Amino acid sequence: MSDTQLDGTVSEPLLELSGIGHEFGRRPGHSGIRAVDDVSLTLNPGETVGLVGESGCGKSTLGRIATRLYRPTRGAVRFEGRDMTHQPKSADLKAFRRAVQMVFQDPNGSLNPRLPVGSSIEEPLRARGVSRADRRTRLSQVLEEVGLDATAAARYPHEFSGGQRQRLALARALAPQPSVIVLDEPTSALDVSIQAQILNLLQEIQQRDRIAYLFISHNLGVVRHLSERVAVMYLGSIVEIAPSQQLFEAPQHPYSMALLSSVLEPGADTEPGERIVLKGELPSPADVPTGCPFSSRCWLADDHCRSERPALTEQAPGHLTACHKPGSRS
Ligand SMILES: Nc1ncnc2c1ncn2[C@@H]1O[C@H](COP(=O)(O)OP(=O)(O)O)[C@@H](O)[C@H]1O
Ligand SMILES: [Mg+2]
Repeated sequence: MSDTQLDGTVSEPLLELSGIGHEFGRRPGHSGIRAVDDVSLTLNPGETVGLVGESGCGKSTLGRIATRLYRPTRGAVRFEGRDMTHQPKSADLKAFRRAVQMVFQDPNGSLNPRLPVGSSIEEPLRARGVSRADRRTRLSQVLEEVGLDATAAARYPHEFSGGQRQRLALARALAPQPSVIVLDEPTSALDVSIQAQILNLLQEIQQRDRIAYLFISHNLGVVRHLSERVAVMYLGSIVEIAPSQQLFEAPQHPYSMALLSSVLEPGADTEPGERIVLKGELPSPADVPTGCPFSSRCWLADDHCRSERPALTEQAPGHLTACHKPGSRS
């Protein structure tokens, strides 16, 4: 979908996911686990979209689809308006693989333990036929960008701390000059003080290079400061998406309210008495309730909610909620 701007120009989203569905373990006569169900999401140049939700709600699967590490069971991934899902032109897919990078929670996935880290960082450039001299130049640039000394290149992954290794993984993602980075819980394994350093670094890099981030986290506090918009996922679906400030100040979906009320970081403006404790267990994605997927745990749910699935509906400009009773707390 394109947006018409005030000056009449049409801006294309950089990355567009539309109607994405993903099932694991689907066999003839046997439905699989529906990890992602009908998700649409766009990412504009230089923007950060936060993606939050409990463990198992499908965030990583969606992130892997956005980078085309997985091909979705349903729906389409478009990059700069071009389809990357079904038989994309190989030149388009090649450009996409360079432009859309991913950083994982565990940096060891991007660093070969048996090679000096410089080799791992250069590897995507080597694969692309970049000359040795240009690789060396880019390597020193990206090491500096992530706050490491050029001498780091010759050392091995085990010689670095967890925070430094995540800087190295980021350097590898930055090497091919991407326009999008999917960050999947990039700070979740780090100590709080180190987390803050990495978040600041991500922000600096974005301001300088105008890279768009899809920032995945189960921690709302972490995405709050970086994201222009935040999408809340529950059991494979987006239940609410809004400009960050609106989501945090005036959440419309009961699940978002519950998630926000459990943010127990210092300075969170939640009174102890306001804490919402969800009843019941998180259902399995193999057994999503009929009607609203949140109905089995929602204190507002009635027969309508249990029988009819609410569509994502715009409540205010750019603020969409999938709830039959948006905005009500009780
Ligand atoms: N490779 C896989 N094979 C089978 N099931 C998977 C696989 N990856 C994820 N799942 C399942 O899909 C659901 C979503 O997982 P995931 O996307 O990793 O969620 P999140 O990142 O939000 O924790 C979970 O139920 C998970 O067990
Ligand atoms: Mg995950």
